[in-house]
Amino acid sequence: MKQPLVIFDTTLRDGEQSPGASMTKEEKIRVARQLEKMRVDVIEAGFAAASPGDFDAIHAIAQAVKESTICSLARANENDIGRAGEAIRPAQSGRIHTFIATSPIHMEKKLRMTPDQVVEQAVKAIGWARSYTDNVEFSAEDAGRSELDFLCRIFEAVIKAGATTINVPDTVGYNIPYQFAETIRQLIERVPNSDKVVWSVHCHNDLGLAVANSLGAVLVGARQVECTINGLGERAGNASLEEIVMAVRTRADVFPVETRIDTTQIVPASKLVSQITGYPVQPNKAIVGANAFAHESGIHQDGVLKHRETYEIMRAQDVGWSQNKLVLGKHSGRNAFKTRLAELGIELDSDEVLNAAFARFKELADKKHEIFDEDLHALVSDEVVTPDQEHYKLIYSHVCSETGEMPHAQVVLSVGGSECKGEADGGGPVDATFKAIETIAGSGAELLLYSVNAITTGTDAQGEVTTRLAKGDRIVNGNGADTDIVIASAKSYLNALNKLHSSLEKVKAQGGV
Ligand code: KIV
Ligand code: ZN
Repeated sequence: MKQPLVIFDTTLRDGEQSPGASMTKEEKIRVARQLEKMRVDVIEAGFAAASPGDFDAIHAIAQAVKESTICSLARANENDIGRAGEAIRPAQSGRIHTFIATSPIHMEKKLRMTPDQVVEQAVKAIGWARSYTDNVEFSAEDAGRSELDFLCRIFEAVIKAGATTINVPDTVGYNIPYQFAETIRQLIERVPNSDKVVWSVHCHNDLGLAVANSLGAVLVGARQVECTINGLGERAGNASLEEIVMAVRTRADVFPVETRIDTTQIVPASKLVSQITGYPVQPNKAIVGANAFAHESGIHQDGVLKHRETYEIMRAQDVGWSQNKLVLGKHSGRNAFKTRLAELGIELDSDEVLNAAFARFKELADKKHEIFDEDLHALVSDEVVTPDQEHYKLIYSHVCSETGEMPHAQVVLSVGGSECKGEADGGGPVDATFKAIETIAGSGAELLLYSVNAITTGTDAQGEVTTRLAKGDRIVNGNGADTDIVIASAKSYLNALNKLHSSLEKVKAQGGV
């Protein structure tokens, strides 16, 4: 009989601490809904005390999501815990996750507290958290570099005070699998009442060992893993959810646990997070990389054709890869379009949104004869922008680019409903277009990142562009897709400008915990 392994997703909290990966409230809700659909057990929706924007996003997710537990992070102080408690109040199932550092270096140099004071503070924190919910998680930050005796002492105290999940983070990604597993094994063996709580691990990937360390811990008794989609997270990231889930499932002969995850939702989740954060997925990334199921060598191809399992340990469709087959063309009707979206699990909020998406589909089908599932995903994500978030809209763009001449761009934008024209020279057609837009918008934002990805193969493929802009303490990502790279770039730039302009955008300094 398998035991449950709790999947605790922290894409919206630790994942969002990746530089430039901050998300708007609406984007966080979209990700949270996808995590719920994927049947993630616990969604760490943010750090309520970090900013009013974080608080609002957690509160909104707690209202929107019904099937997953919604959690907020909080430092071990009364104010943070109060904010977390208020933020998760609407949740059907809510959790407060409070933490304090326990390693000698963190206690002495960062907290400037003695070990006794740290234990006392942790116990108080559990008491405050328990006044909001009986689902309370305690993390010993930098446990991976803490003394085992001290961890035993503090964990014993917080369990007595009412913590229900004990998390052991390798905050700086310093541990090695056999050693981390041994730490977890000893903690479970030595801490009194260890059988009354769920043991959890939270591993960072500084040495590329986050997944290995997490899985090693599961083998010795950890029953919750904290992870993120695409392994996003502070510095080198966190353990990747898709790798943990598929390792446990594929090696059911080794792991005594099972997850509730609907694995067919993994690739859609990966694409959504990548598109929103502007963090591309490397092609050779396990499970969700574009090449994860591609066989290049003739010997491998021959083997797979003869018997798939000669070279494949998982099925691409089990993790949500579609066949990349031609799905629709310019003669497809609204019904076929709607049916294919439903098959892809894409639900549009209203007939109006569906009609707008269908109009865009027809436009695309005129330019690009073969429309693939990936095109539909990009097309629909464009439609998610609601009119009140579209202060700047592209009406027209024209670029002149010829050998030996400086590229020149002209654009016409709708700005809050009025038409404005701008033009500029630039180092290339995209640079000229951005400069032309800026003659109108005058945002003064700094361009931090510009990246282009082909959504499918072929020279008529749509290009998906991500633009990251910074202004003051705000960093936003914009996305745009089109068969014309310059237009995709303009759309992406305007999408980012709209976010900077939007009052819905949260204000948050990067850095987090
Ligand atoms: O890495 C870490 O220690 C954390 C804790 C707050 C759980 O993210
Ligand atoms: Zn972390």
